[in-house]
Formats: sequence, C-alpha cells, structure tokens
Amino acid sequence: MQRSTEPYKGTRDFYPEDTFIRNYIFSVMRKVSESYGYLEYDASILEDSALYKAKSGEEIVNEQTYTFVDRGGREVTLRPEMTPTAARMVAGKRKELAFPLRWYSIPNLFRYERPQRGRLREHWQLNVDLFGVDSVSADEEIISVAFDIMKAFGAHDEHFRIRVNNRRFMKYVLNDVLKLSETRSRQLAKLIDRKDKMEEEKFYEEIKTMLGEETADTFLEILMIDTLDALPRGMIDLPSVQELNMVLNDLRARGIENIVFDPTVIRGFDYYTGIVFEIFDVNPVNSRSLFGGGRYDDLVSLFGVEPVAGVGFGMGDVTIRDYLETYRLLPDYQPTTQLYLCVIGHELHAYASKLASELRREGINVSVDYSNRPVGSQVKTADRQKIPFVICVGEEEYETKRFRLRVMKSGVEKVVERADIGALIRNGGF
Ligand code: HAM
Repeated sequence: MQRSTEPYKGTRDFYPEDTFIRNYIFSVMRKVSESYGYLEYDASILEDSALYKAKSGEEIVNEQTYTFVDRGGREVTLRPEMTPTAARMVAGKRKELAFPLRWYSIPNLFRYERPQRGRLREHWQLNVDLFGVDSVSADEEIISVAFDIMKAFGAHDEHFRIRVNNRRFMKYVLNDVLKLSETRSRQLAKLIDRKDKMEEEKFYEEIKTMLGEETADTFLEILMIDTLDALPRGMIDLPSVQELNMVLNDLRARGIENIVFDPTVIRGFDYYTGIVFEIFDVNPVNSRSLFGGGRYDDLVSLFGVEPVAGVGFGMGDVTIRDYLETYRLLPDYQPTTQLYLCVIGHELHAYASKLASELRREGINVSVDYSNRPVGSQVKTADRQKIPFVICVGEEEYETKRFRLRVMKSGVEKVVERADIGALIRNGGF
C-alpha cells in the first residue's frame, strides 16, 4: 500500500492557493490571446505515438515521452507538446476551416525530464498558433502576443529578453559555410540547443571535437555575434538575414525594444522552418526559457493534405510562476468564497442554510459552518481561509433579522439589515 502523500515525481498537487495562482496565470494568458482574436481549442492528453515520431524530433520521442501499450495493443503517448496535435486537427479539417486560423490552448504536457527548477514532468503550456499566413507579419504578431503577455503580467522590458534567430540562416551556416552533412548539422544543432544546460568549457570542447579546431573557431565566432550588422558582409544580404532584420526593425518600431538577434537560439524540434525565438528572464536564477516558438511550414502537410503555413509559441506555467515570484508580480491569494456564516447552535442550521441560499441567489459565494464549534473557532476558520466577510447567526439575529457583518481585514463590524448584505459585500464592505 502506498503511504507517501507526495505526488508522482516531477508533478505538482494544486492546493487551493496554488490553483488560485494557476487560474490567475491562465486568465492573463487567455485575455491577451483572445484580444488578438485567437480562439480556444482542446484535445485529449492521449495521442497515437506515431504522431510524434515524424514530427517532434528524436530527443523528445526517444528520451522524453511517456509511452505505453494500451489493452488493444496500440502504442499511446501522453502528449509532450501540443504542436503536432494542433497540426493534426488543422489537417483533419483542412477543407472546412476558414484560414487564417488563430488558435490557442492551455494543455498539460508530460515529459520524462530530470525535475529541476523550471523543468518538471508535467506542466501546463499556453500554445498560441497562427495557421495559413506565409508573411513575416504573422511571425511578428506571434512575438507581439508573447511580449504583450509579459506586459500584462506587469513585467518590465529590461527584466526579460526576446532572442530571435532564423532556421534558414542556421541551415546556410551549417551546410554552406561549414559544409556539414545533414546528419552532422543535426548533431551540431542539438548541441547548440543544449548550450545553456552545459558548462561553457565542455560546450567548446564538444564543438571542437565535432568540427576540428579551425572550423570550430569560425563557427564560434558566428555564435558570438549579437547584432545583424556584425555578420560577415556576404551574410547580410541573405534573404534569411533580411527577414530577421525586418522582424527586429518592425518590432522595435512597435516599441518592443528588448528583442535581440541570437544565433545560439536553435530550438530542439525538427519541424521549424524559419524564424525561431525564445524569451528569457535576464535574472540567472531563472535560467530556463519562458517562451519558445517559431515558424513551421511543413508540419500540416505531413498528414497528406495541402501545405498550411504555421507559426506559434509555447509558454509554460512553471517558468512564468518562477518569474512572477522573482519579481513579486503575483497577486495576493483571495478565495472565491466571499462570506462565511458562523452558526451558533444546531437548531439554527436550517435557518443559516436558508439565508445562505438567498444570498447565493444574489450572487454572493457563501460557506456555512455546520461544525457546532464555539463561535471563536468558527471565525478563526474563516480567518485562516482568508474569507473576507463573516456573519455569525445566533438567536438574536434569527429574531431581529439584523446581522453583524464583520470585515475581516480591518476587523470593523457593523449591524446591517438583511436586505443590505449583498450590496455591502459586492462593494467591498464599509
Ligand atoms: P518548448 O520550447 O519545448 O516548445 O516549450 C515551450 C515552453 O514550455 C518553454 O519555454 C517552457 O516555458 C515550457 N516548458 C517546456 N518543457 C517544460 C518542462 N519540462 N517543465 C516546465 N516547463 C516546460 C514547444 O513545446 C513547442 N511545441 C512550442 C510551439 C508552439 N512552437 C510552435 N507552436
């Protein structure tokens, strides 16, 4: 028999105070996504394992998925990301859907990772994706949505950074400059993707082993560049670099100034085809990315339908919570219960219950204490649960139909008429 009260490794229990924070985070995600016209969609946690084999990339499928065989012999995976599901759904109704599509979802995802700060085995991830637009304006919109979400949480621009790169530019560097084979390019890309998780020395060493001293130096020089102007002459005119230039300029012109070119942003998934980006906290205590996304124009057509361009991002609840805690941006906990009715004596339970029902019909959330404990203990419960208003129902209240309403925060109490209770609570007391 299991006796531990701990949740499964790398997952969290959400007690009401945690659920409050999660709901707050989701509400901001929803509000900003909907303000741009994105519609919410959803799907099952379970997917056919084959969905990830061709689409997500080897690391995630071989090392990070929870996969099992169901009773019918089918291989099933707990979704490790939402993008393949979204692409499957778009492909499934390719003919019926009216493009361009703006979709968002907040699924829980499962990855078999080593639990650590910012990385768990189950997390919730806002996915915002725009389907059916080739233009770089779509990439810009997606990055703007991410920026606006950070602003809606109260983040200051100087506390987070948007790092942008282009998969096509990296492909040029790996294939045309370094002349690497497809396999070698892929290995190198994976290595760069793990850069932030490795010791700097080790990273350089591996690059040198992979490329040889001379090529490694050329490559490391490129990786260290942080503005497009600093790229070698021949590269500045590449269409992929021009595209980056446009994205950076357009977004800066819109007031997004914490955006930078960063050739080390590669992204782990194989499906990206163009602009890719990640958002990071500048404070090194939160070293994991807050957002990651980019353009993926070939994913929908893998389902055998006409191609549909896609661009979007994922943003996790774990890293944003760490961020909001670091910068003290989380709201104070407030229960949804507004009023606690303490009841003095068993014979008044029915009356208190009726009073509660009436108040609920007026839109007040009321909790009734049927414990028959001394009134002091009942009030203490309301206090510990942070319920803002308390009324004690005793003989006198029953007789007079007048009630002592206590505002818990200030400790102020006033005798009020039955008819005034609802409005007083709605207005925050006296
Ligand atoms: P991703 O970079 O794997 O992208 O994840 C996006 C974000 O989800 C990360 O920046 C992080 O906030 C959060 N996240 C990822 N893994 C974990 C984890 N193990 N624990 C906690 N948080 C995590 C994707 O998943 C892409 N499918 C996103 C996308 C959507 N691209 C285009 N559309």
